[in-house]
Amino acid sequence: MSTDILGYRGKRVVVMGCFSGTGEAAARTLVALGAEVHGCDIKPSPVEGLASFTTVDLKDPTSIAAGVAAIGGEVDALFNISGLPQTFPGEDVVTVNFLGIRHWTECWLPHIRKGGAIVTVSSLGGMNYLARQPLLAEFMGNADIASGRAWFNANAERAGDPYTLSKEAVNTWTQKSAPALMERDIRINCTMPSPIDTPMLNDFRKVAGDAVLSAFAKAKGRFSSPEEQALPLILLNSDAASFISGVCLPVDAGLAGGLATGVLNIQQMIAEAAGG
Ligand SMILES: NC(=O)c1ccc[n+]([C@@H]2O[C@H](COP(=O)([O-])OP(=O)(O)OC[C@H]3O[C@@H](n4cnc5c(N)ncnc54)[C@H](O)[C@@H]3O)[C@@H](O)[C@H]2O)c1
Repeated sequence: MSTDILGYRGKRVVVMGCFSGTGEAAARTLVALGAEVHGCDIKPSPVEGLASFTTVDLKDPTSIAAGVAAIGGEVDALFNISGLPQTFPGEDVVTVNFLGIRHWTECWLPHIRKGGAIVTVSSLGGMNYLARQPLLAEFMGNADIASGRAWFNANAERAGDPYTLSKEAVNTWTQKSAPALMERDIRINCTMPSPIDTPMLNDFRKVAGDAVLSAFAKAKGRFSSPEEQALPLILLNSDAASFISGVCLPVDAGLAGGLATGVLNIQQMIAEAAGG
């Protein structure tokens, strides 16, 4: 039996979002695991040892197509890690977090090898996706970036928080795509992190406030590190996860499970955090 249980040695992988935070950590670890890592982001990556770096703006279909062409060839795994918090304009949030990521993935699909895998970072913020399927079907029914943005602008009030909408869409897309992709021997999964200690956390602090963030950090007494979020992504896209597809994996130190079973009560946790 090989000791390379994750199986990344020699694999050709693409990491979208490796300027900072989780994507930077994922790219660095994948380089260390012996993968041929092609990095992409709207900003340059500090990661050493990348096979290539391509500037891609997920808001722009032309930039997306050019990025796929610049890397070229076939790939084994896509890591879709880029994201924007809701301090940015709503139509940009839904574009980067879902419409652009979906378009990027669709452009790659003809070039993903059998046995390949796709993972996207969603969020615990999208955990109620099953309760909003009719609205999500309307939003996701827009096949391209331009029509999806137009739908959001026309329905912003009904759609609510753009970050939540985008992450609910990622969860739904992941699970709806899995059966057809499995027929081509390609897996697709996503993770739902609780707050991560990355540059984005300051934006969430502005929107949600300290009490809400502290409540989400209570499970382990701290926020997760970018590495603690990168490793589950690496696991899900690895050979060790060959029978896992269509999963939205909470990476939250037990928070989602506690909330789902009523052991934890988020309103009570926020009130306690606000009280000191
Ligand atoms: N930080 C948190 O608390 C938290 C919690 C749950 C989920 N997430 C998700 O984790 C993922 C990684 O975020 P992070 O926390 O590492 O933050 P981060 O800000 O460090 O990383 C986000 C990355 O997305 C890139 N990006 C932004 N706009 C882009 C565009 N138009 N095209 C291409 N790339 C673009 C940024 O340059 C950056 O490298 C995101 O999808 C985010 O929504 C974060």
